[in-house]
Amino acid sequence: VRYLGNRSSGRQGEALAREAASRGATVTLIATMPVSMQPPHEVVAVDTAAEMSEAVARFSEQSDIIMMAAAVADFRPKTHSELKMKKRDGVPEVMLEATVDILDRVGGAKRSDQMVVGFAAETDDLRSNAVEKLVSKGADLIVANDVSAPQVGFGHETNAVLIFGPEDFVVEVPLTHKRAVAAAIFDEIAKRRK
Ligand code: CTP
Repeated sequence: VRYLGNRSSGRQGEALAREAASRGATVTLIATMPVSMQPPHEVVAVDTAAEMSEAVARFSEQSDIIMMAAAVADFRPKTHSELKMKKRDGVPEVMLEATVDILDRVGGAKRSDQMVVGFAAETDDLRSNAVEKLVSKGADLIVANDVSAPQVGFGHETNAVLIFGPEDFVVEVPLTHKRAVAAAIFDEIAKRRK
């Protein structure tokens, strides 16, 4: 009846999948929202962070490029109720526990012929937080956005990002459609894979 979720629409992930497919990649899109792609591409529907983690583990070995655009929950309730929790029983205390950090896992297990691209949703200290995630999660690129800025990130058709790479590398993509952001990210990936 009730669950913890977030405001992400999944549109940036879908835009990445469509951009990759248009550039000739064979795509597996692991998503929580309803979306379809024509074969040879594939959509794997998941509901929870645990299901997403399991699906990423299943497909990551065969993938050349792994991109984590999902706003994965960091915490989940420790228990769930089979029955509806009644108001008359008073205000419940919800105990949380950490979920698996999928990007951290994928980055840690990355082969030298693979590229891992993460995202960073920030409201403050965007640059230092993004670079910290790049290093600590073992990503090749981190795409950072300020989710408190107007028209950026969660729930919008548009995004504005900074793409961080090793050695102070940074590219700015000003406010534009999420598909154009996806194109800018793949331009960077293409340069690096050459
Ligand atoms: N991520 C993940 N698994 C999680 C949480 C996040 O794979 N359980 C990935 C996201 O898909 C993104 C990156 O890690 O590519 C950064 O996610 P973000 O929400 O910005 O940061 P967190 O790592 O959750 O850290 P914090 O909430 O402290 O900023």
